[in-house]
Amino acid sequence: MAPSYFYFENNNDCDIIVYNMIDIKKIKNDFPLLNKQINSKPIIYFDSACMSLKPRQVIEAMNEYYYEYPACAGRSSHRLGELVTNKVKEVRQIVAKFINANSEKEIVFVRNTTEAINLLANSLNFKENDIILTTDKEHNSNLIPWQALVNKKGIKHLIVKSRDDGTFDFESYRKLVKGVTLVSMVHTSNLDGMTIPAKEIIKIAHENGSLVFLDAAQSAPHKKIDVKDLDVDFLAFSCHKMLGPTGTGIFYAKYGLLEKLDPFLVGGDTVEYSTYESHKMLEAPEKFEAGLQNYAGIIGIGEAVKYLEAIGFDNIKEQELKLNSFITEELNKLSKIKIIGSADSALRSGIISFYIKETDMHQIALMLDEMSNIMIRSGQHCVHSWFNDKKIKNSARVSLYFYNTMEEAEKFISCINKIIKIL
Ligand SMILES: Cc1ncc(COP(=O)(O)O)c(C=O)c1O
Repeated sequence: MAPSYFYFENNNDCDIIVYNMIDIKKIKNDFPLLNKQINSKPIIYFDSACMSLKPRQVIEAMNEYYYEYPACAGRSSHRLGELVTNKVKEVRQIVAKFINANSEKEIVFVRNTTEAINLLANSLNFKENDIILTTDKEHNSNLIPWQALVNKKGIKHLIVKSRDDGTFDFESYRKLVKGVTLVSMVHTSNLDGMTIPAKEIIKIAHENGSLVFLDAAQSAPHKKIDVKDLDVDFLAFSCHKMLGPTGTGIFYAKYGLLEKLDPFLVGGDTVEYSTYESHKMLEAPEKFEAGLQNYAGIIGIGEAVKYLEAIGFDNIKEQELKLNSFITEELNKLSKIKIIGSADSALRSGIISFYIKETDMHQIALMLDEMSNIMIRSGQHCVHSWFNDKKIKNSARVSLYFYNTMEEAEKFISCINKIIKIL
């Protein structure tokens, strides 16, 4: 049976049921926060790029773990332990299928994208003069670990500057990629929502003998990731940005590469046995998951992926595009407002990041919250380097997801119009 959150449309001509539209009202019932009010007004949550909301299916699965079988995986052989071990295995398989990995052995559970990048930076055995190539729009999580290696190991860090319209500059990339050890790039930017043409970038990198890591923190929640089709070597995303429990993420690596990495966290659960002098490491992925894990979180990831797959990425994209186009068009009517990135909303996923010259955008965010419980993020969104380079103080960022509605977008625009008049 199709999930309850789809509309059914009978096509009388050929009696085929089409369920390609999502019923936002039914979806909203799955998200507890969207049924709450502050000061008798609903909450408009436009901050999903930071943290997505969680459907009750995810929350209930986690609660079930705590109520029914709160044991460890991979250690105890009693039936509760067995149950957790099997659930963790099942979620690893679900995630592998979700990103079309070759096998669940390529999936490492981590706390977030940041941890995955640190794992890579500290496990790849970089040497002096190795080169890392990033874009100019990296989140601090894909910048600071490399800057730390510049200081610690003497590696080099190069940057491909984006074009003025925010698109990827292949000409400059082709020149810079020669001799690079690792191309490490943000797939979809949390700054402007723009996605790099990853498949072509990866092909060129491989032709030059470079490995590639993709930061999929903002792409995995919004579009189908196919690691085989991309031929990407390493990839990471945070499940808390895609309906999953807070503090859960995934690190993917091609198995041959994962086997060669040296874990930077070691201890319990990473070894087959130890003596007073030595030990034998487990194989990947287990050797990367030191100590007891966040089992409730892992179980929640499984439910989040199932929920996303039932909604479908085509439906997610359609809803985000509809709202993004409307908001973009309305903001463009206000001459004071400048949107970061492409003028084409279709290139900006669910993100509209905007600023007003000489205005502290934190003020705007606070006013939106005060006026109508509209939750957006303001600041430099952990991409300080880009703001400092461009000498822009900060921006206000609306980040949409499929549970947002046109009424919410209209409310936001009406509040922005009022704020602009006050300013
Ligand atoms: C593009 C991008 N990369 C990395 C991160 C870091 O994610 P986390 O804080 O979950 O590690 C974020 C978080 O906003 C992000 O947007």
